[in-house]
Amino acid sequence: MASVSDRNDQVAGSRPSLYWRFNRFLERHLPERLYPRSLIIIITPIVLLQSIMAFIIMERYWDQVTKQLSKSVAREIAFLIEVYEYYPKSPANNQQLVRLANDTLDLGLTIIEGQTLPPPASKPLFSLLDQQLSKYVTRLVERPYWLDTIGQTGYLDLRIEVQPGVIFRILTNQKRAYASNTHIFLLWMVGSSLVLMFVAVVFLRNQIKPIMQLASAAQSFGMGRDVPAFQPKGAAEVQIAAKAFNDMRERIERHVEQRTAMLAGVSHDLRTILTRFKLELACFPPSPQVEELQRDADEMQRMLEDYMAFVRGDGGERSIVSDISTIVSSVARLAEKRGRDMSVEMPEELWAAVKPNAFKRCLTNLVSNAAKHSQSIQISAEMDEWRLRVIVDDNGPGIPPEKREEVFRPFVRLDDARNQDQSGTGLGLAIARDIARGHGGDIVLGDSPLGGLRAVIDIPVS
Ligand SMILES: Nc1ncnc2c1ncn2[C@@H]1O[C@H](COP(=O)(O)OP(=O)(O)O)[C@@H](O)[C@H]1O
Ligand SMILES: [Mg+2]
Repeated sequence: MASVSDRNDQVAGSRPSLYWRFNRFLERHLPERLYPRSLIIIITPIVLLQSIMAFIIMERYWDQVTKQLSKSVAREIAFLIEVYEYYPKSPANNQQLVRLANDTLDLGLTIIEGQTLPPPASKPLFSLLDQQLSKYVTRLVERPYWLDTIGQTGYLDLRIEVQPGVIFRILTNQKRAYASNTHIFLLWMVGSSLVLMFVAVVFLRNQIKPIMQLASAAQSFGMGRDVPAFQPKGAAEVQIAAKAFNDMRERIERHVEQRTAMLAGVSHDLRTILTRFKLELACFPPSPQVEELQRDADEMQRMLEDYMAFVRGDGGERSIVSDISTIVSSVARLAEKRGRDMSVEMPEELWAAVKPNAFKRCLTNLVSNAAKHSQSIQISAEMDEWRLRVIVDDNGPGIPPEKREEVFRPFVRLDDARNQDQSGTGLGLAIARDIARGHGGDIVLGDSPLGGLRAVIDIPVS
């Protein structure tokens, strides 16, 4: 389908717009249900925004501050070295320098004499502190050094060879040279967005609930189930839709009620007359003419019943959980009475929510069609979590595939059937399909393994 429409777009010369493509991409890749969709719509911007913010903070703030701190530490060290070299060397002076460095600058300095630098420490793979500090020590101190930022957690160990045999060892908190509170900032950011998301999710749930309730009410009503009028809740638009649904449902129910009442009246009146007519006929002495009239009266009664059934539909019947196997066996018995070979295959217990009378009529129509056209009939019923399927197979002539839709139209009878001297109104399948659709299902015709027609009643039960 998609490729055909793509081709058409190209033939028409109108390339699909970027917006259209984007929309189609979203339609294809978003989850189907409304709730996860809305969640994605809310969560994606939050995550995106937070990631961009985090990136900028890492890139700018963290980087810059670490750079500045490292630079100032390197400068302070350079300053101390200048002072050390300018004044005459004496233990008192050294002590004074160390005191200055530790009390005022908080550098953790010790002056070690008669030692050399240790072999280079292993470098961390990615450490801003290590990179920046190395850079500024190289640039500002200009002496051989040894740096270790991972040996002791939270501390940095920097040793500088001031003169051969004289080492300045700086063992200080990493905070001196490193913007370390970014973690807390990130934690705040992630924490606050989690709280935000939680609020959004709860709020969204409450907004979407009325929509889901409306959807399931409409679905149950479409399947002919009993739907209690429900209170419109949620956003204004949802309330309008719910109210419209309630009104529509009431109107349909009223309509069905009126029609059923009218039909009951008409059929009662006509039947009364017909019965009277048949009684009067019975009073005549038997003769071929009277017999013919009686046959006609019988046929008229059958037709009247068919028409009534067709207009009545399911008669506004409510779905209730019914014993399908009882219905199936009673219909099967009818066919057996007409002298057909009957076999029934179904679980002993089969309960499903259907409109019992309408369902029975639907099955009766299929089975009586089979009985009319064939000698042996097989009915099987099965049910899983979602669907109830009742299959009627026969060994008759079947219906050619191209006619299988047509026969469902009211008053359509296939020609050879019309030629046969059999009564029928062409309403049987129309009524049956109407009933199946009134349950939210359908009837499908196909080829039977018995050689004739297979009719399948397929009704959703979940
Ligand atoms: N089991 C069947 N085998 C063969 N043809 C069938 C079968 N069921 C229905 N048909 C054909 O479909 C037509 C329509 O069926 P239906 O609506 O029940 O009308 P009717 O039975 O009153 O003729 C029938 O006239 C018949 O030609
Ligand atoms: Mg029929």
